[in-house]
Amino acid sequence: MKILVTGGAGFIGSAVIRHLIREGAAAVVNVDKLTYAATPEALEEAGESPNYAFAKIDICDGPALREVFAAHRPDAVMHLAAESHVDRSIDDAADFIQTNVVGTCRLLETATDYWRALEGPAQSAFRFHHISTDEVFGALGAEGHFTEETPYKPNSPYSASKASSDHFVRAWHQTHGLPVVTSNCSNNYGLYQFPEKLIPLMIINALTEKPLPVYGKGENVRDWLHVEDHARALVAVLTQGRVGETYNVGGDSEMRNIDVVHMICDLVDELSPRAETVEGGGGRRDLVTFVTDRPGHDLRYAVDASKIKRELGWTPQESFASGLRKTVVWYLEHQDWWRGILERRYAGERLGLSKADQKAG
Ligand code: NAD
Ligand code: TYD
Repeated sequence: MKILVTGGAGFIGSAVIRHLIREGAAAVVNVDKLTYAATPEALEEAGESPNYAFAKIDICDGPALREVFAAHRPDAVMHLAAESHVDRSIDDAADFIQTNVVGTCRLLETATDYWRALEGPAQSAFRFHHISTDEVFGALGAEGHFTEETPYKPNSPYSASKASSDHFVRAWHQTHGLPVVTSNCSNNYGLYQFPEKLIPLMIINALTEKPLPVYGKGENVRDWLHVEDHARALVAVLTQGRVGETYNVGGDSEMRNIDVVHMICDLVDELSPRAETVEGGGGRRDLVTFVTDRPGHDLRYAVDASKIKRELGWTPQESFASGLRKTVVWYLEHQDWWRGILERRYAGERLGLSKADQKAG
């Protein structure tokens, strides 16, 4: 089997590719534009395999996409390429609309033309797997979970662009017959996550003795899933999912942001003890700083993943406590990787303030 993976140089895409190549499950062609968020270092091991190829392509570029389909003749597409950070979508939504909406439509057009020209079993076995987020469902109150039937109610420009792409994928299936499957996953964490996201930012700031900026009161809840559990779920959805269906993926690990940050502080204290000279002599929890909330900040996400568990036999293997410990150890051992990013691409500055808050502060 040959899989065309878009966004394979990103956090989740690279985990999927490492998984596929290590398991000998498929040959991969990775289509990625290499934006600021790409981490090609995460593919060094895969890059040595004869089953791995890379094409530096923008998914908005139809002719380049057609060439890569013709050259590699994939049996399936796993579409992960996206702009993925909510705060950046608040600052400027243009790239989100371009890549997540327009790019997805280009890819759908190209994949449909390619799929139509396939014959017999190759045509019936072809799959287009769209990778999406639980954020398309909007925010939950204190109770309840997102199911596959929950109505879409996106609140951020990021989630609106992903919701739009989900609808286009559905429309291509209904209108053109493209055999699609879609998965909607909760927040991921783990190795090689770009330090703009909560967990890596807090680990790095704790290690470097910088303030830990918790939005609002830290009471927002996310449902965390280790990226390698997500990678296994995605392979299950691609290979066993029913055409036209959507599958929710989540870790059954709901946590308030402040509790996540406290866990990180305690792990960093344990694994990299603070110098005795630090003022006050307390632990890293002292670095927590409550800052102006994110505009439109969704209160709570929680995923009901019973469908994928029941139908595809997938369950998460990593508990949040064990996965977070592994992640802190990984960031401790890969300081060159994130220090390079801090120097050249993103130094940890606040993103995603409302225009009014920017003016005030
Ligand atoms: P990421 O930002 O780490 O990586 C995105 C990758 O896409 C990068 O390698 C980037 O270079 C590439 N890319 C961006 N624009 C492109 C374009 N126009 N053409 C080609 N490549 C382009 O993102 P991630 O966290 O790995 O997320 C991957 C997918 O999973 C996204 O679709 C995201 O919406 C979805 N998702 C993410 C999470 C999460 O917690 N990170 C949760 C659920 C779903
Ligand atoms: P994030 O990692 O950006 O993921 P998402 O917005 O897609 O859920 O943020 C996770 C949670 O952490 C979210 O509730 C916002 C919050 N947060 C902070 O409190 N401080 C920060 O510096 C960041 C980046 C996020």
